[in-house]
Amino acid sequence: MSSQAGLAFEQAPPFSLPLRFFLTAPLFLIAAGILIAVHPEALASRWSPQALALTHAFTLGFLAMAMLGALSQMLPVVAGAPLPAARAVSATSHVALSLGTAALMAGFLFASPRALGAAVWLLGGGFAAFIAAAALSLARAAPSATVYGMRLALAGLACTAVLGLSLALLRADVWHPPLLAEATDAHAGFGLLGWVLLLVIGVAYQVVPMFQITPPYPPVLGRWLAGTMFVLLVLRAFLPQRAAAALLMLDAALAVGILVFAGATLRLQARRRRKLPDVTLDFWRLGMVCLAACVPVWALAQAWPGWARNDAYPMLLGMLFIMGFAVSVVTGMLYKIVPFLAWFHLQAQLQAKAGTIPNMKQMISGKALRWQLYSHYLACLLLAAAALRAEIAPVAGGLLALSAALLLYNLAAAGRRFLSQGGRIS
Ligand code: HEM
Repeated sequence: MSSQAGLAFEQAPPFSLPLRFFLTAPLFLIAAGILIAVHPEALASRWSPQALALTHAFTLGFLAMAMLGALSQMLPVVAGAPLPAARAVSATSHVALSLGTAALMAGFLFASPRALGAAVWLLGGGFAAFIAAAALSLARAAPSATVYGMRLALAGLACTAVLGLSLALLRADVWHPPLLAEATDAHAGFGLLGWVLLLVIGVAYQVVPMFQITPPYPPVLGRWLAGTMFVLLVLRAFLPQRAAAALLMLDAALAVGILVFAGATLRLQARRRRKLPDVTLDFWRLGMVCLAACVPVWALAQAWPGWARNDAYPMLLGMLFIMGFAVSVVTGMLYKIVPFLAWFHLQAQLQAKAGTIPNMKQMISGKALRWQLYSHYLACLLLAAAALRAEIAPVAGGLLALSAALLLYNLAAAGRRFLSQGGRIS
C-alpha cells in the first residue's frame, strides 16, 4: 500500500472503527436541536438544567464523539503510532461516551443523582481508556507540530474530564471535593480552548495545506501557538476570580492567540492554489470567521459591564464558539475523512484499478452536500439570533435538527456506497 504526503496509510485501522463515532455524532446534534425546539428556555440562561444538557449534547455528544473517532483514525496515519488495543479501546470508549453523554444530559434535565452517577462511571471509564491509549500512542509518535498540538489537546481533555467528573459528583451530592468557585470556568476553559481549539490547531497544520491546497502555516505558529495557549490556560485555572486584572491580561492574550490562528488560516485559504469549489473549505471558513467573531463579543463585555451581566452574552459567545466554529470545522472534516476512508478501504480491499471504483467526490452527492451546508449556515445564524431573541429558539432548534439529520444522511450515503461496491466494513 502506498504512502502519500508523509502519511502512513498501511497503519490505518478498519473502517468500522472510526465510522461508528462519525455516525453517532450527528444523532446528538439532532438531540440538541430537538432540545432547543422543545425547551426554548435552554437558551435563556447558561445555568439552567436545559442549557447544561444542551452544552454537553454539543461538546460531548457531537464534538468529542467525532474528535475521538478522528483521532483513532489519525493517530496511526498522521502520527505513525497506532492506538494500543485499538479495537477494544475504540469499542469501549464509543459505547461509554454514547451512554455516558445521554446519562449526563438526563442527570441535568431531571436533576437525577442516579443518572449523574451513571454518567460519572461511564464517562470516567471511557475517557480513561481512550486518553491512556492515545497518550501511549503519542509518546511513541515522531515529533511534529501536529503531534505537539495533539499532545496538548489530550492534556486539555484530561483536565476537562477530571474537573467535569468532580463537578458532576458535587451536583449529585455524592462527594464534596474541595472545589473552588473557579472550577466550572476552568472546566469550560480547558474543554473549549484546551481540548477543542488546540486539537483543531494541531490538525489544521496538517490538513489545511493538504486538503485545501494552501501554502503551509508559518513555522513559528507550529512552534509557539498551541504551547503558549496551553500555559495561559493553566495559569488562568490557578488564578482566583478576585485577581481581575491578571485574569483580564491572560484572557486578552488568549484572544490574541485566537485571532492569530483564525487570521492565519483565512489568509492561507485566500491564497490557495486550486480555486475549485469545496464544501470543507466553506465549513472551515465559516468556522474561522465565527472563531474570530468571539473576540469582539468578549471585548464588548470587558468594556461594557451591562453586556457582561446580560444572559445573552455567554449564550452568544457559546453559540459562536461551539456551533459556529467547532461544529462547522468538525463537519467540514467529516466530509473529507468519511469519503476518503470509504474510497481508501474499497481500494485496499478490492485492489481496484483507478476508474473501477467511485472516487472520493462520488461517495456523497454534491447537491446534498451543498444543501446541508446552506442549512448549517442558516442554523448558525438563527441560533446566534436566538441567543439574543428567545422567540426564535424553536425555529432555530428545528433547523439545527434538520441540518444534523442531513449530515447523518450524507455520511451514511458514503457508507452505503462503500457497501454497494462490495466493501467489508470491519
Ligand atoms: C467527563 C465529561 C464531562 C462531565 C462529567 C462534565 C460535567 C459538567 C458539569 C457537572 C457542569 C456543571 C458545572 C456546575 O454545576 O457548576 C459542566 C459545565 C460545563 N461543561 Fe462539562 N462535563 C464534561 C465534559 C465537557 C467537555 C468535553 C466540554 C467542552 C468541550 C464541556 C464544557 C462545559 C461547559 C462549557 C460548561 C459550562 C456551561 C456554562 O458555563 O454555560 N464539558 N460540565
